[in-house]
Amino acid sequence: MGLEVSYFLNVSEGVETMRLAVLASGYGSNLQAIINGVKSGAIDGQVVVVISDQENAFALKRAREEGIEALFLDPGVFAGREAYEREIVAKLQKQQVELVVLAGFMRLLSPYFIKAFSGRIMNIHPSLLPAFPGLDGVKQALAYGVKVSGCTVHFVDAGLDTGAVILQEAVNVYDSDTEETLQQRIHKVEHRLYPRAVQLFIKGKLHLEGRRCLVNES
Ligand code: GAR
Repeated sequence: MGLEVSYFLNVSEGVETMRLAVLASGYGSNLQAIINGVKSGAIDGQVVVVISDQENAFALKRAREEGIEALFLDPGVFAGREAYEREIVAKLQKQQVELVVLAGFMRLLSPYFIKAFSGRIMNIHPSLLPAFPGLDGVKQALAYGVKVSGCTVHFVDAGLDTGAVILQEAVNVYDSDTEETLQQRIHKVEHRLYPRAVQLFIKGKLHLEGRRCLVNES
């Protein structure tokens, strides 16, 4: 039997919407893709809070411009990783968040966080996992000399980019590629893949069988 991984849909005025949080450390183009998905109706959810560990993250500016609560939480002022995460989890719970979307959030989450949102945390990574996990996925792929890379949306577990794969798409690597050009093409694919993965979750179309995440597209 598969485990259905969709939770607590809100029903307001007959429209189902899921409360989403996005955690981002940087530019926030994936955040923007998700916001755009919400606005266009491709995602039956709402981004209720954006949290960053970087004060100047452009992602926070994007959120503010969209009228979304945008919080900078400084890891430097907390006693350790778990104390920091307790603060994030408290903010997410206060906002009744149902799905946590990591979009370029460059911190490894502890078992405490994973347990608090078990089965309800997604990440996007710029390689075909399990190849090139961790930092600089695009740079690692180029340095290795692969001819095909891509991106992966996966559930988050306590490992480094080790959770069950939700969606993946390949991107060719050309001889002329630099980190920048390959990153740009991967980004384009990410912006299509991530909103789709979020919507599949919201609609209860993802089912875990062991490590395999089966997608019911019907
Ligand atoms: C994305 O390419 C994402 O795959 C990567 O960070 C970028 C964030 O871009 N994430 C990781 O490398 C996680 N290990 P964005 O801020 O424009 O969305």
